[in-house]
Amino acid sequence: MIINGKEISKAIKEELAVKVATIKEQTGLSPRLVVVLVGNDPGSVSYVTGKAKAATEVGIRNETLRYPESITEEELLALIAKLNADDDVDGVLVQLPLPKHIDEQKVIDAISVDKDVDGFHPGNVAKLWLKQPCTVPCTPNGIIKLLKTTGVEIAGKEAVVIGRSNIVGLPVAKLLLDNNATVTIAHSRTKNLAEVTRRADILVVAIGRPRFVTADMVKPGAVVIDVGVNRDENGKLCGDVDYDATAEVASYITPVPGGVGPMTITELMVNTVECFMRKKIEK
Ligand code: GUN
Repeated sequence: MIINGKEISKAIKEELAVKVATIKEQTGLSPRLVVVLVGNDPGSVSYVTGKAKAATEVGIRNETLRYPESITEEELLALIAKLNADDDVDGVLVQLPLPKHIDEQKVIDAISVDKDVDGFHPGNVAKLWLKQPCTVPCTPNGIIKLLKTTGVEIAGKEAVVIGRSNIVGLPVAKLLLDNNATVTIAHSRTKNLAEVTRRADILVVAIGRPRFVTADMVKPGAVVIDVGVNRDENGKLCGDVDYDATAEVASYITPVPGGVGPMTITELMVNTVECFMRKKIEK
């Protein structure tokens, strides 16, 4: 069975749009998101376009500030300081990756923790690991919602996450753990990877290699979540999982596109509205 991220996403956005419209009616206020895009990487441009479209659908005022690759770290940090100080900005997102001459972590650290809609700021990361209320990264949160909406039981299950990035692998492992799964994090140095992945009842793949996970690496009946967005040798969009063959083995699988991707964008809208609510409505 296919887990339709696009459809699940649409339902969440519709609900969020009603909430935003109601608050606007009652208070005259609405959330505002500023996305910063450096350079012209086609993947990043496409993500940012998707984010802007979703924000508009939900009723979030939004703009994308575009800068050339040549922007200096100092200039970018000055821009962030300006956005932090602007009370009419509720969420700030700097699209990653950044050019090599810019220290990514320094930029993430500079965003006000209250406006960090990505949930990447050390303040939010620490709170996630301490189980305190915080902004949770979009892709991991979206994955948990996909599982729950599909009716997949997480508690007591063997979950294997391939990938240990700050954006996906680590936080999704933590959320699975919080939902009482038994979690293994596998990565490029894992020995006998197929043996590890075949134990998984829930397999989350976030390594960024086209069709890396093949059907023989998947236990029959497993739930497979594919976070990858790659181009194959023919330029065709594909995930980290060999979809066609794996779909025959899995009980549920997310397609690429139309699986995790739309959920990431939708969760960004959820986070933006939450930051706005905390700052302007519930204060
Ligand atoms: N690049 C790839 N995924 C993401 C994301 O979730 N947020 C940001 N800011 N950049 C990304």
